[in-house]
Amino acid sequence: MSPITIGFIGLGRVGKALAEKSMRAGNRVLLSNSRGPASLTSYVAELGPLASAGTVAEAAQAEVVFLSVRWADISQALQGLPNWEGRIVVDTTNPILADGTFVDLGERTSSELVAAQLLGARVVKAFNSLFAAWMEDEPVQPAGKRVVFVSGDEAEAKNTAKELIAAMGFAPIDLGGLVEGGRLQQAGKPLAALNLLLTN
Ligand SMILES: NC(=O)c1ccc[n+]([C@@H]2O[C@H](COP(=O)([O-])OP(=O)(O)OC[C@H]3O[C@@H](n4cnc5c(N)ncnc54)[C@H](OP(=O)(O)O)[C@@H]3O)[C@@H](O)[C@H]2O)c1
Repeated sequence: MSPITIGFIGLGRVGKALAEKSMRAGNRVLLSNSRGPASLTSYVAELGPLASAGTVAEAAQAEVVFLSVRWADISQALQGLPNWEGRIVVDTTNPILADGTFVDLGERTSSELVAAQLLGARVVKAFNSLFAAWMEDEPVQPAGKRVVFVSGDEAEAKNTAKELIAAMGFAPIDLGGLVEGGRLQQAGKPLAALNLLLTN
């Protein structure tokens, strides 16, 4: 896959870990947070020429966008953005509040609720099942590659996400559609918080 520009909405532990690994695979990253691009000047300088900072609206224009804000901040982060017109959003979020409480979503999966706020986007759920420390760590270990579960309804979007994830060094494992996969990989479900390595 040729290098692309990946937008990041949210640049905490998850956003930073995935931006750095995306760059290592040769991609450009356009970073955004709640405080605006000026707050990212020194981090961007540290990352080098493949990195830049912008507003959330600018990051949202990228072909692939990683959404890595806390559950309580999703609506505000996405507020006012125009239709996504088929661009891919990789949803890394979990429905967990600042005090660690899991939000009760009833029968709905978290990515369904996120997707409902991303009109026109092709949503792929990934990385939410790993702790940030595992995303920061080297994905290629002597015993194998760290597994990242991936769910999504659009085959082409999911394939693009899987290629990006593989280029970072992780081993993507496809769990099917957003809802069926979400029921396995979202916080509190059987495949969440598992640090698995896939041997070759
Ligand atoms: N931490 C983990 O172990 C882990 C693991 C898997 C999944 N997740 C999920 O991944 C998501 C991110 O987690 P995290 O640990 O990286 O969180 P974090 O360290 O708290 O970072 C959150 C980021 O979101 C940004 N943000 C907040 N409101 C925003 C807004 N309105 N517009 C744009 N950006 C906004 C913050 O901006 P500022 O920097 O300007 O404050 C910050 O950069 C969460 O949904 C979490 O549940 C976390």
